[in-house]
Amino acid sequence: MRTIAVYPGSFDPPTVGHLDIIDRSSRVYSRVIVAVARNIRKNVWFTPAERMAMLRKLTRTYTNVEIDSFRGLLVDYARDKGAHVVMRGLRAISDFEYEFQMAHMNKKLASEVDTVFMMTGERYSYISSNIVKEIASFGGKIDDLVPPLVKKEVLKKIEKRRKA
Ligand code: PNS
Repeated sequence: MRTIAVYPGSFDPPTVGHLDIIDRSSRVYSRVIVAVARNIRKNVWFTPAERMAMLRKLTRTYTNVEIDSFRGLLVDYARDKGAHVVMRGLRAISDFEYEFQMAHMNKKLASEVDTVFMMTGERYSYISSNIVKEIASFGGKIDDLVPPLVKKEVLKKIEKRRKA
């Protein structure tokens, strides 16, 4: 069976934890659509185009991974793409409550779409995009948290925000 999985998120910016989930999902599903959320309530640093460009570069070698963006409800987007799986990474118990609520709500909205959770690799379990931005903005090292090209973009963004 050819199963399409949508891996949605803010990816502001993509971390090594995200890449771990993309890599492992690409071995399980025939097609993985990494979907950058456009309408999020969070305070984002990167535009959807910037987030997509980083993800495209980082996933260039995968033949079954594509990068896209969406606005509106995730389940509408998944339906539109013919995807029956929404992939989410779970880092720790603290993620669970939010993910639980979202998975159930999405199931209620679209019963044909299942949320599948993948445990984030142990060494990535403490990494989040927000932590990356916070550490970097106080001058801390983010080398182990994001790929080099993302580090470059984060530092550029900090410089730009400092000047603004
Ligand atoms: O990386 P994030 O910020 O944890 O991703 C959250 C995201 C974008 C997957 C979630 O907020 C989402 O699906 N937003 C789209 C709007 C939607 O469908 N909301 C209902 C979810 S119950």
